[in-house]
Amino acid sequence: MILPRLFIPVESATGETRVAASPETVKKFISLGCSVTIERGAGASAGFVDTAYSEAGAELVAPGDSQAWGAADVLLCVQQPSVSALARLRRGALVVGLLAPYSNAELATVLQGGGLSAMALELLPRISRAQAADALSSQANIAGYKAVLLGAGALDRYFPMLMTAAGTVQPARVVVLGAGVAGLQAVATARRLGAVVYVSDIRPAVKEQVESLGARFIDPPDMDDKPAESGGYAKQASDAFLAAQRQQLSDQLAQADVAICTAQVPGRRAPRLISEDMLDRMRPGSVVVDLAVAQGGNCADTEPSRTVDRKGVKLIGANDLPCSVSNHASALYARNLLSLLEPTLQDGQLKLDTDDELIAGCLVAQDGTIRRGDVLTPGGSN
Ligand code: NAI
Repeated sequence: MILPRLFIPVESATGETRVAASPETVKKFISLGCSVTIERGAGASAGFVDTAYSEAGAELVAPGDSQAWGAADVLLCVQQPSVSALARLRRGALVVGLLAPYSNAELATVLQGGGLSAMALELLPRISRAQAADALSSQANIAGYKAVLLGAGALDRYFPMLMTAAGTVQPARVVVLGAGVAGLQAVATARRLGAVVYVSDIRPAVKEQVESLGARFIDPPDMDDKPAESGGYAKQASDAFLAAQRQQLSDQLAQADVAICTAQVPGRRAPRLISEDMLDRMRPGSVVVDLAVAQGGNCADTEPSRTVDRKGVKLIGANDLPCSVSNHASALYARNLLSLLEPTLQDGQLKLDTDDELIAGCLVAQDGTIRRGDVLTPGGSN
Protein backbone atom coordinates (compact mmCIF):
# COMPACT_ATOMS: atom_id res chain seq x y z
CA MET A 1 0.00 0.00 0.00
CA ILE A 2 1.37 3.44 -0.97
CA LEU A 3 0.38 6.23 1.39
CA PRO A 4 -0.24 9.49 -0.49
CA ARG A 5 1.90 12.18 1.10
CA LEU A 6 -0.02 15.43 1.43
CA PHE A 7 1.88 18.66 1.86
CA ILE A 8 0.56 22.04 3.02
CA PRO A 9 2.82 25.09 2.56
CA VAL A 10 2.68 28.52 4.13
CA GLU A 11 0.70 30.60 1.60
CA SER A 12 3.01 33.04 -0.19
CA ALA A 13 0.57 35.43 -1.95
CA THR A 14 0.54 38.95 -0.51
CA GLY A 15 -2.28 39.42 2.00
CA GLU A 16 -3.28 35.75 1.99
CA THR A 17 -4.25 34.68 5.52
CA ARG A 18 -5.94 31.36 4.78
CA VAL A 19 -4.52 27.85 4.91
CA ALA A 20 -5.55 24.80 2.88
CA ALA A 21 -5.92 22.32 5.77
CA SER A 22 -7.34 22.57 9.27
CA PRO A 23 -6.41 20.24 12.14
CA GLU A 24 -9.83 18.62 11.57
CA THR A 25 -9.15 17.79 7.92
CA VAL A 26 -5.58 16.69 8.68
CA LYS A 27 -6.97 14.14 11.11
CA LYS A 28 -9.49 12.92 8.55
CA PHE A 29 -6.91 12.62 5.75
CA ILE A 30 -4.69 10.57 8.07
CA SER A 31 -7.64 8.28 8.91
CA LEU A 32 -8.04 7.78 5.14
CA GLY A 33 -4.48 6.48 4.87
CA CYS A 34 -2.56 9.63 3.94
CA SER A 35 0.46 11.11 5.64
CA VAL A 36 0.41 14.89 6.13
CA THR A 37 3.34 17.29 6.27
CA ILE A 38 2.74 20.97 6.97
CA GLU A 39 5.10 23.93 7.05
CA ARG A 40 5.45 25.54 10.47
CA GLY A 41 3.24 28.60 10.85
CA ALA A 42 1.03 27.68 7.86
CA GLY A 43 -2.16 28.08 9.90
CA ALA A 44 -1.02 30.91 12.16
CA SER A 45 -2.93 33.73 10.48
CA ALA A 46 -6.05 31.55 10.33
CA GLY A 47 -5.97 30.82 14.06
CA PHE A 48 -4.65 27.26 13.76
CA VAL A 49 -1.48 26.75 15.82
CA ASP A 50 1.30 24.28 14.96
CA THR A 51 0.59 22.11 18.00
CA ALA A 52 -3.00 21.56 16.84
CA TYR A 53 -1.67 20.15 13.56
CA SER A 54 0.92 17.92 15.27
CA GLU A 55 -1.74 16.67 17.70
CA ALA A 56 -3.87 15.82 14.65
CA GLY A 57 -0.97 13.69 13.37
CA ALA A 58 0.82 16.00 10.90
CA GLU A 59 4.58 16.25 10.60
CA LEU A 60 5.80 19.85 10.89
CA VAL A 61 8.69 21.08 8.75
CA ALA A 62 10.46 24.42 8.30
CA PRO A 63 9.00 26.66 5.55
CA GLY A 64 10.76 26.10 2.23
CA ASP A 65 12.17 22.68 3.22
CA SER A 66 13.13 21.36 -0.26
CA GLN A 67 13.10 17.75 0.88
CA ALA A 68 9.50 18.03 2.09
CA TRP A 69 8.40 19.73 -1.15
CA GLY A 70 10.22 17.09 -3.21
CA ALA A 71 8.60 14.22 -1.29
CA ALA A 72 5.01 15.49 -1.67
CA ASP A 73 2.49 13.54 -3.76
CA VAL A 74 -0.25 16.14 -3.33
CA LEU A 75 0.23 19.82 -2.52
CA LEU A 76 -2.85 21.46 -1.01
CA CYS A 77 -2.84 25.23 -1.33
CA VAL A 78 -5.24 28.17 -1.30
CA GLN A 79 -3.52 30.26 -4.00
CA GLN A 80 -0.90 29.14 -6.49
CA PRO A 81 2.60 28.93 -4.95
CA SER A 82 5.35 30.81 -6.80
CA VAL A 83 6.88 29.25 -9.90
CA SER A 84 10.19 28.72 -8.10
CA ALA A 85 8.39 26.91 -5.26
CA LEU A 86 6.45 24.69 -7.68
CA ALA A 87 9.74 23.77 -9.34
CA ARG A 88 10.70 21.95 -6.10
CA LEU A 89 7.92 19.38 -6.61
CA ARG A 90 8.72 16.00 -8.14
CA ARG A 91 7.35 15.02 -11.55
CA GLY A 92 3.86 13.54 -11.23
CA ALA A 93 2.97 15.50 -8.06
CA LEU A 94 -0.56 16.95 -7.91
CA VAL A 95 -1.30 20.58 -6.98
CA VAL A 96 -4.83 21.34 -5.71
CA GLY A 97 -6.07 24.87 -5.07
CA LEU A 98 -7.64 28.07 -6.33
CA LEU A 99 -5.09 28.38 -9.12
CA ALA A 100 -6.62 31.28 -11.09
CA PRO A 101 -6.43 29.17 -14.26
CA TYR A 102 -7.98 31.57 -16.77
CA SER A 103 -5.28 32.54 -19.29
CA ASN A 104 -2.60 31.66 -16.72
CA ALA A 105 0.27 31.01 -19.12
CA GLU A 106 2.84 31.01 -16.30
CA LEU A 107 1.01 28.18 -14.53
CA ALA A 108 0.64 26.21 -17.77
CA THR A 109 4.36 26.48 -18.43
CA VAL A 110 5.43 25.37 -14.95
CA LEU A 111 2.98 22.43 -14.97
CA GLN A 112 4.27 21.29 -18.37
CA GLY A 113 7.92 21.82 -17.53
CA GLY A 114 7.68 20.07 -14.16
CA GLY A 115 5.51 17.16 -15.34
CA LEU A 116 2.91 18.17 -12.73
CA SER A 117 -0.80 17.51 -12.36
CA ALA A 118 -3.14 20.23 -11.11
CA MET A 119 -6.75 20.67 -10.04
CA ALA A 120 -8.13 24.22 -10.23
CA LEU A 121 -11.14 24.52 -7.94
CA GLU A 122 -12.52 27.41 -9.99
CA LEU A 123 -13.39 24.88 -12.72
CA LEU A 124 -15.35 22.43 -10.60
CA PRO A 125 -18.72 21.92 -12.35
CA ARG A 126 -21.62 23.58 -10.45
CA ILE A 127 -23.60 20.34 -9.99
CA SER A 128 -25.30 19.02 -6.83
CA ARG A 129 -22.68 16.33 -6.25
CA ALA A 130 -19.94 18.98 -6.23
CA GLN A 131 -21.54 21.22 -3.62
CA ALA A 132 -19.47 20.00 -0.65
CA ALA A 133 -16.28 20.64 -2.63
CA ASP A 134 -17.39 23.99 -4.04
CA ALA A 135 -14.71 26.38 -2.82
CA LEU A 136 -15.97 29.27 -4.95
CA SER A 137 -19.26 29.08 -3.05
CA SER A 138 -17.77 28.71 0.43
CA GLN A 139 -15.54 31.73 -0.14
CA ALA A 140 -18.15 33.82 -2.02
CA ASN A 141 -20.60 33.32 0.85
CA ILE A 142 -18.08 34.86 3.22
CA ALA A 143 -17.37 37.72 0.81
CA GLY A 144 -21.07 38.55 0.45
CA TYR A 145 -21.59 38.60 4.22
CA LYS A 146 -18.50 40.68 4.94
CA ALA A 147 -19.25 43.14 2.12
CA VAL A 148 -22.46 44.16 3.84
CA LEU A 149 -20.72 44.57 7.19
CA LEU A 150 -18.10 46.79 5.53
CA GLY A 151 -20.81 48.79 3.79
CA ALA A 152 -22.78 49.21 7.03
CA GLY A 153 -19.61 50.17 8.90
CA ALA A 154 -18.69 52.85 6.36
CA LEU A 155 -22.21 54.27 5.95
CA ASP A 156 -23.19 57.49 7.69
CA ARG A 157 -26.66 56.12 8.44
CA TYR A 158 -28.39 53.30 10.30
CA PHE A 159 -29.38 50.17 8.37
CA PRO A 160 -32.66 49.33 10.18
CA MET A 161 -35.77 51.44 10.46
CA LEU A 162 -35.89 52.84 13.99
CA MET A 163 -38.58 54.66 15.89
CA THR A 164 -36.85 56.75 18.51
CA ALA A 165 -37.91 59.54 20.82
CA ALA A 166 -36.07 61.90 18.48
CA GLY A 167 -38.05 60.72 15.47
CA THR A 168 -38.30 57.90 12.98
CA VAL A 169 -35.31 56.76 10.95
CA GLN A 170 -36.00 55.25 7.52
CA PRO A 171 -34.25 51.97 6.66
CA ALA A 172 -31.17 52.06 4.47
CA ARG A 173 -31.58 51.23 0.78
CA VAL A 174 -29.11 48.65 -0.46
CA VAL A 175 -28.68 47.76 -4.13
CA VAL A 176 -27.01 44.40 -4.82
CA LEU A 177 -25.64 43.93 -8.33
CA GLY A 178 -25.28 40.25 -9.22
CA ALA A 179 -27.19 37.60 -7.26
CA GLY A 180 -24.89 34.59 -7.39
CA VAL A 181 -23.60 33.08 -4.17
CA ALA A 182 -21.99 36.28 -2.85
CA GLY A 183 -24.92 38.45 -3.92
CA LEU A 184 -27.56 36.25 -2.29
CA GLN A 185 -25.58 36.16 0.95
CA ALA A 186 -25.27 39.95 0.77
CA VAL A 187 -29.05 40.20 0.32
CA ALA A 188 -29.69 37.94 3.32
CA THR A 189 -27.20 39.81 5.52
CA ALA A 190 -28.51 43.26 4.55
CA ARG A 191 -32.08 42.09 5.18
CA ARG A 192 -31.10 40.77 8.62
CA LEU A 193 -29.73 44.22 9.44
CA GLY A 194 -33.06 45.72 8.41
CA ALA A 195 -32.24 47.33 5.06
CA VAL A 196 -34.59 47.55 2.09
CA VAL A 197 -32.81 45.64 -0.68
CA TYR A 198 -33.02 45.87 -4.49
CA VAL A 199 -31.25 43.35 -6.70
CA SER A 200 -30.15 43.34 -10.32
CA ASP A 201 -29.11 40.18 -12.17
CA ILE A 202 -29.39 39.07 -15.75
CA ARG A 203 -30.32 35.45 -15.05
CA PRO A 204 -34.14 35.27 -14.76
CA ALA A 205 -33.92 32.23 -12.45
CA VAL A 206 -32.58 34.48 -9.73
CA LYS A 207 -35.77 36.53 -9.36
CA GLU A 208 -37.53 33.91 -7.23
CA GLN A 209 -34.49 33.41 -4.97
CA VAL A 210 -34.16 37.15 -4.44
CA GLU A 211 -37.84 37.59 -3.62
CA SER A 212 -37.80 34.65 -1.20
CA LEU A 213 -35.15 36.58 0.77
CA GLY A 214 -37.46 39.59 1.01
CA ALA A 215 -35.68 41.73 -1.59
CA ARG A 216 -37.05 43.36 -4.74
CA PHE A 217 -35.81 42.21 -8.13
CA ILE A 218 -34.97 44.71 -10.85
CA ASP A 219 -35.91 42.99 -14.11
CA PRO A 220 -33.07 43.08 -16.67
CA PRO A 221 -33.53 45.34 -19.73
CA ASP A 222 -36.00 43.82 -22.18
CA MET A 223 -33.71 43.47 -25.19
CA ASP A 224 -33.25 40.87 -27.92
CA ASP A 225 -29.54 40.32 -27.24
CA LYS A 226 -29.94 39.19 -23.61
CA PRO A 227 -26.74 37.46 -22.39
CA ALA A 228 -26.95 33.66 -22.54
CA GLU A 229 -26.27 31.24 -19.70
CA SER A 230 -23.99 28.23 -19.54
CA GLY A 231 -23.60 25.80 -16.62
CA GLY A 232 -25.52 28.21 -14.36
CA TYR A 233 -23.13 31.06 -15.17
CA ALA A 234 -24.01 34.23 -17.05
CA LYS A 235 -22.22 34.82 -20.35
CA GLN A 236 -20.77 38.20 -21.21
CA ALA A 237 -23.37 40.87 -21.98
CA SER A 238 -23.05 43.03 -25.11
CA ASP A 239 -22.01 46.68 -24.81
CA ALA A 240 -25.53 47.76 -25.86
CA PHE A 241 -27.12 45.57 -23.17
CA LEU A 242 -24.78 46.92 -20.48
CA ALA A 243 -25.53 50.50 -21.56
CA ALA A 244 -29.28 49.83 -21.20
CA GLN A 245 -28.69 48.18 -17.83
CA ARG A 246 -26.67 51.17 -16.55
CA GLN A 247 -29.43 53.53 -17.62
CA GLN A 248 -31.96 51.39 -15.78
CA LEU A 249 -29.84 51.25 -12.61
CA SER A 250 -28.99 54.94 -12.54
CA ASP A 251 -32.16 56.04 -10.73
CA GLN A 252 -31.95 53.15 -8.25
CA LEU A 253 -28.38 54.05 -7.36
CA ALA A 254 -29.19 57.75 -6.99
CA GLN A 255 -31.47 56.73 -4.11
CA ALA A 256 -29.19 54.05 -2.65
CA ASP A 257 -27.21 54.21 0.56
CA VAL A 258 -25.04 51.19 -0.21
CA ALA A 259 -24.31 49.34 -3.46
CA ILE A 260 -22.78 45.86 -3.20
CA CYS A 261 -21.22 44.83 -6.53
CA THR A 262 -20.83 41.09 -7.14
CA ALA A 263 -21.61 40.71 -10.87
CA GLN A 264 -19.09 38.50 -12.63
CA VAL A 265 -18.65 36.43 -15.76
CA PRO A 266 -16.07 33.61 -15.28
CA GLY A 267 -12.80 34.22 -17.09
CA ARG A 268 -13.90 37.63 -18.38
CA ARG A 269 -13.64 41.23 -17.32
CA ALA A 270 -16.43 42.03 -14.85
CA PRO A 271 -19.38 43.95 -16.39
CA ARG A 272 -19.17 47.71 -15.80
CA LEU A 273 -22.49 48.53 -14.14
CA ILE A 274 -21.75 51.82 -12.35
CA SER A 275 -20.25 54.63 -14.45
CA GLU A 276 -18.76 57.98 -13.42
CA ASP A 277 -22.07 59.68 -14.30
CA MET A 278 -23.97 57.30 -12.05
CA LEU A 279 -21.52 57.93 -9.20
CA ASP A 280 -22.07 61.67 -9.67
CA ARG A 281 -25.74 61.11 -8.89
CA MET A 282 -25.09 59.14 -5.68
CA ARG A 283 -25.54 60.86 -2.32
CA PRO A 284 -22.36 62.00 -0.50
CA GLY A 285 -22.08 59.61 2.44
CA SER A 286 -23.21 56.59 0.43
CA VAL A 287 -20.95 53.58 -0.08
CA VAL A 288 -20.05 51.22 -2.92
CA VAL A 289 -18.43 47.88 -2.07
CA ASP A 290 -16.96 46.33 -5.23
CA LEU A 291 -16.23 42.61 -4.94
CA ALA A 292 -15.45 42.39 -8.64
CA VAL A 293 -12.61 44.92 -8.39
CA ALA A 294 -9.87 42.37 -9.16
CA GLN A 295 -11.67 41.47 -12.40
CA GLY A 296 -11.81 45.11 -13.53
CA GLY A 297 -14.64 46.18 -11.23
CA ASN A 298 -18.40 46.63 -11.59
CA CYS A 299 -17.93 50.24 -10.55
CA ALA A 300 -15.78 53.02 -12.07
CA ASP A 301 -12.82 54.24 -9.97
CA THR A 302 -12.66 51.35 -7.47
CA GLU A 303 -9.15 50.10 -6.64
CA PRO A 304 -8.15 46.71 -5.17
CA SER A 305 -7.72 46.70 -1.36
CA ARG A 306 -8.31 50.46 -1.13
CA THR A 307 -11.10 52.81 -0.09
CA VAL A 308 -11.38 55.85 -2.33
CA ASP A 309 -13.38 58.92 -1.33
CA ARG A 310 -14.99 60.18 -4.55
CA LYS A 311 -16.89 63.42 -3.93
CA GLY A 312 -18.09 62.03 -0.59
CA VAL A 313 -19.04 58.58 -1.95
CA LYS A 314 -16.86 55.87 -0.41
CA LEU A 315 -15.67 53.33 -2.97
CA ILE A 316 -14.39 50.18 -1.27
CA GLY A 317 -12.31 47.84 -3.45
CA ALA A 318 -13.04 44.55 -1.71
CA ASN A 319 -11.01 41.88 -3.48
CA ASP A 320 -9.83 39.88 -0.47
CA LEU A 321 -12.80 39.62 1.88
CA PRO A 322 -12.50 35.85 2.62
CA CYS A 323 -8.99 36.62 3.99
CA SER A 324 -10.59 38.92 6.57
CA VAL A 325 -12.57 35.97 7.97
CA SER A 326 -9.54 33.70 7.84
CA ASN A 327 -10.53 31.05 10.40
CA HIS A 328 -13.91 30.13 8.97
CA ALA A 329 -12.73 30.72 5.39
CA SER A 330 -9.89 28.21 5.97
CA ALA A 331 -12.01 25.70 7.86
CA LEU A 332 -14.60 25.63 5.06
CA TYR A 333 -12.01 25.65 2.27
CA ALA A 334 -10.16 22.77 3.96
CA ARG A 335 -13.41 20.79 4.07
CA ASN A 336 -13.98 21.56 0.37
CA LEU A 337 -10.59 19.99 -0.42
CA LEU A 338 -11.33 16.96 1.74
CA SER A 339 -14.69 16.45 -0.01
CA LEU A 340 -13.03 16.70 -3.41
CA LEU A 341 -10.21 14.27 -2.64
CA GLU A 342 -11.91 11.73 -0.35
CA PRO A 343 -13.53 9.80 -3.24
CA THR A 344 -10.17 9.65 -5.05
CA LEU A 345 -8.43 7.92 -2.13
CA GLN A 346 -8.91 4.21 -2.68
CA ASP A 347 -6.88 1.29 -1.33
CA GLY A 348 -4.30 3.66 0.12
CA GLN A 349 -3.71 5.36 -3.25
CA LEU A 350 -4.90 8.50 -4.92
CA LYS A 351 -6.63 7.62 -8.18
CA LEU A 352 -7.99 10.32 -10.47
CA ASP A 353 -10.93 9.01 -12.50
CA THR A 354 -10.92 11.28 -15.54
CA ASP A 355 -14.29 9.87 -16.62
CA ASP A 356 -15.80 11.55 -13.55
CA GLU A 357 -17.07 14.98 -14.65
CA LEU A 358 -15.92 16.56 -11.37
CA ILE A 359 -12.34 15.46 -11.94
CA ALA A 360 -12.45 16.08 -15.69
CA GLY A 361 -13.76 19.62 -15.11
CA CYS A 362 -11.06 20.80 -12.74
CA LEU A 363 -8.03 18.65 -13.67
CA VAL A 364 -6.28 21.28 -15.77
CA ALA A 365 -3.10 19.24 -16.23
CA GLN A 366 -2.05 15.63 -15.74
CA ASP A 367 1.62 14.63 -15.50
CA GLY A 368 2.59 17.74 -17.45
CA THR A 369 -0.05 17.44 -20.18
CA ILE A 370 -2.53 20.31 -20.31
CA ARG A 371 -6.07 18.87 -20.30
CA ARG A 372 -8.04 22.12 -20.17
CA GLY A 373 -6.34 23.98 -23.01
CA ASP A 374 -9.60 25.90 -23.47
CA VAL A 375 -8.79 27.72 -20.23
CA LEU A 376 -5.08 27.28 -19.55
CA THR A 377 -2.99 28.25 -22.55
CA PRO A 378 0.80 27.89 -22.35
CA GLY A 379 2.66 30.90 -23.65
CA GLY A 380 -0.45 32.87 -24.57
CA SER A 381 -3.94 33.88 -23.55
CA ASN A 382 -7.27 32.35 -24.44
P1 NAI B 1 -20.48 34.55 -10.43
O1 NAI B 1 -19.60 34.98 -9.29
O2 NAI B 1 -19.84 34.06 -11.68
O3 NAI B 1 -21.43 35.78 -10.83
C1 NAI B 1 -22.20 36.44 -9.86
C2 NAI B 1 -23.51 36.86 -10.46
O4 NAI B 1 -23.31 37.94 -11.38
C3 NAI B 1 -24.24 35.78 -11.24
O5 NAI B 1 -25.50 35.54 -10.62
C4 NAI B 1 -24.39 36.38 -12.63
O6 NAI B 1 -25.63 36.03 -13.25
C5 NAI B 1 -24.34 37.86 -12.32
N1 NAI B 1 -24.09 38.74 -13.46
C6 NAI B 1 -23.27 38.59 -14.52
N2 NAI B 1 -23.36 39.64 -15.35
C7 NAI B 1 -24.26 40.50 -14.79
C8 NAI B 1 -24.78 41.78 -15.16
N3 NAI B 1 -24.42 42.38 -16.29
N4 NAI B 1 -25.69 42.34 -14.33
C9 NAI B 1 -26.08 41.76 -13.19
N5 NAI B 1 -25.62 40.56 -12.79
C10 NAI B 1 -24.72 39.94 -13.58
O7 NAI B 1 -21.56 33.49 -9.95
P2 NAI B 1 -21.52 32.45 -8.76
O8 NAI B 1 -21.88 33.11 -7.50
O9 NAI B 1 -20.22 31.74 -8.80
O10 NAI B 1 -22.71 31.46 -9.17
C11 NAI B 1 -22.86 31.02 -10.51
C12 NAI B 1 -24.02 30.08 -10.65
O11 NAI B 1 -23.75 28.84 -10.07
C13 NAI B 1 -25.31 30.53 -10.01
O12 NAI B 1 -26.36 30.15 -10.89
C14 NAI B 1 -25.42 29.73 -8.77
O13 NAI B 1 -26.75 29.61 -8.34
C15 NAI B 1 -24.86 28.43 -9.28
N6 NAI B 1 -24.36 27.56 -8.24
C16 NAI B 1 -24.73 26.24 -8.27
C17 NAI B 1 -24.28 25.37 -7.30
C18 NAI B 1 -24.66 23.95 -7.37
O14 NAI B 1 -25.70 23.58 -7.83
N7 NAI B 1 -23.79 23.09 -6.93
C19 NAI B 1 -23.41 25.83 -6.22
C20 NAI B 1 -23.09 27.22 -6.30
C21 NAI B 1 -23.54 28.04 -7.29
